[in-house]
Amino acid sequence: MSQSVRQRVEELRRQIRHHDYLYYVEAKPEISDREYDRLMQELKDLEAAHPDLARPDSPTQRVGGQPIEGFQQVRHEIPMLSIDNTYSMEQLREFDARVARALGTGKYRYLVEPKIDGVAAAVRWENGSLRHVVTRGDGSVGDDVTNNAKRIGAIPLRLLEWHELPAHESQSRSTAQMPVPRVLEVRGEIYWPRDAFARFNAQRAAGGEEVFANPRNGAAGTLKQLDPRAVAQRGLSFIAHGLGVVEPMPAAGASEFNALLRQWGVPTNVQACLCEGIDKVVAAIDEWAEKRYDLPYETDGMVVKVDSFRQREDLGATSKYPRWCIAYKYAAERAGTRLHTVDFSVGRLGTITPVAHFDPVQLAGTTVVNATLHNFDQVARLDVRLGDQILVEKAGEIIPHVVQVDMAKRPRDAKPIAPPAKCPACGGPTQRDEGGVYVRCINPECPAQLKQRLQFFAGRGQMDVENLGPAIVDQLVDSGLVKHFADLYRLAKPQLLDLERMGEKSATALLANIQASRDRGMERLLAGLGIRHVGGRASQVLTEHFGGIDELAKAAQEELSAVHEIGPVIAASIYQFFHATQGREMIRQLKEVGVKMTGDRARRAPAKTPLAGKSVVVTGTLANYTRSQIEQKIKDAGGRVSSSVSKATDFVLVGADPGSKADKAKALGVRTLSQQELERMLQQGEGQ
Ligand code: IVH
Repeated sequence: MSQSVRQRVEELRRQIRHHDYLYYVEAKPEISDREYDRLMQELKDLEAAHPDLARPDSPTQRVGGQPIEGFQQVRHEIPMLSIDNTYSMEQLREFDARVARALGTGKYRYLVEPKIDGVAAAVRWENGSLRHVVTRGDGSVGDDVTNNAKRIGAIPLRLLEWHELPAHESQSRSTAQMPVPRVLEVRGEIYWPRDAFARFNAQRAAGGEEVFANPRNGAAGTLKQLDPRAVAQRGLSFIAHGLGVVEPMPAAGASEFNALLRQWGVPTNVQACLCEGIDKVVAAIDEWAEKRYDLPYETDGMVVKVDSFRQREDLGATSKYPRWCIAYKYAAERAGTRLHTVDFSVGRLGTITPVAHFDPVQLAGTTVVNATLHNFDQVARLDVRLGDQILVEKAGEIIPHVVQVDMAKRPRDAKPIAPPAKCPACGGPTQRDEGGVYVRCINPECPAQLKQRLQFFAGRGQMDVENLGPAIVDQLVDSGLVKHFADLYRLAKPQLLDLERMGEKSATALLANIQASRDRGMERLLAGLGIRHVGGRASQVLTEHFGGIDELAKAAQEELSAVHEIGPVIAASIYQFFHATQGREMIRQLKEVGVKMTGDRARRAPAKTPLAGKSVVVTGTLANYTRSQIEQKIKDAGGRVSSSVSKATDFVLVGADPGSKADKAKALGVRTLSQQELERMLQQGEGQ
């Protein structure tokens, strides 16, 4: 191989690390996402063409990775303690008095920073390369989540030496230029940034899937995913806030250590403030009481820690907590108000949600006037009635909710809230769900549902029709112009011009936007159809697997649930959709108006390889290929890769030490292939 390829690979890695630093540590990116992706793609291509240049800490290694069976347990060399916490300033001052007493006459400073609501983890680099990421677990033993954590861009796979820093940084640093320690273990928080979390939850809700209660649970759930691909899309992040084993130890205190970490490419809390004296600490805590709502992550308090490592040692720890550290927690914000009305909103899938409207209150940095009551079970549990004095709570990002009713203040004429017998939007019949928790409008033509569905269909992650906002959708449905998705594509300009506040220019633009959405392709279309449980991720997986709506519609339930990441619930929902008159009619009409029904896989697949359209299961270890490499080859040849063997499987590729899948293939009479046989089939595809 030529020297220049090697040099180019190294140059690309250097550039990508440099841009990672600017993005994650400095929050000052210098190139667009697209340019960044281009660098990454070039590096991926070169590494694929020259496998001997591959390295486990190359930036490309964020994107590989195989689903795993479970998590290894790893013991923390230094236990991960938890922190004592308090809600009272008085106790905070008592903590300071204890610190002062223990340290005698010595001066000391506190580092004060927001307490991030995420998942605590130990991240370890050896000789500058990421070694592992382990969750806190019970403090002594945690789960090795390295595979997933590699998808978190804020965790460098390789640390930067100071001379690799962007020029302006290495010049302006006041910190000494320190080489990366041989062993560097930091402790920090893996968290889900608010905006990414909100986006993800909105997508889930829209797909009829369950949402995460808060970003912390979401981050924990994400780290426990077995397939790292699912992690990549969620946009988790990381901030270091402590240390474990560090050899050799380069700093005398936490603030100095943090500056070094940043120099090596590890993000630390830029909000951290060094305070001398407890009054300064109290002032910082007061200052953050409101400012914390503007942070990109959720926080319910501030961590106060002695800066000097020497003094930390002198203070020591109890069996549970270090004595040099305390968390001050802000009280969850609650406020009393009067409930004056409850109305009912009808969702895309007909679910009727009671929404409480009350006198305005200030909560968690915003004025709140309404809160969801979730469902009628909740209404019954709270025994909430119109006119009641209620207590409303809002913790950071979480939607405000009604926590309690003040029964002592219940007015005599307080009116109970009954589930509506008729849909508030269309007057159609309603029905309780099997579990009895939800009430739904069961009229398939309910205009309120149609409006929601249309808006979702036209939404950003779906068909992305710009300017088709709620006001226009309302008019299109109310005027009877649009009864099905396909009707959007049948709209003509004169009809649009009849709508309120619609001029020539906006009508032309809207029509063009609608027409442009025709070609979004299978993945977006599928996400927009509103099939229960089928959100963005499932649509992506299904598109990659089937490549066309027709192929998907034909699939048996068993075949669907054999697709990676598609469980039996999603499979049943898809099957039902394509076997119900309504679903079929929807697709027929969309075809009629020329909406594109195929996706990327179909386009990439060569026409006539022996693997085209075949379903393949891989088991055992292969020579010269990783699992994902061979799977990619199969997909490139037009095949589909499934995770379990069924009668619908065409081939089972059997490597060394195969698992039970090989036996199952025999039992079902499914043809097995050796690696050589498969390679021959792949070759037949080339050159066509
Ligand atoms: S310092 C001995 N700083 O909160 C531990 N911890 O409830 C010293 N946490 O397990 C940790 N943000 O994972 C520190 N800025 C911060 C933090 C923080 C969140 C976590 C930490 C700890 C948990 C205790």
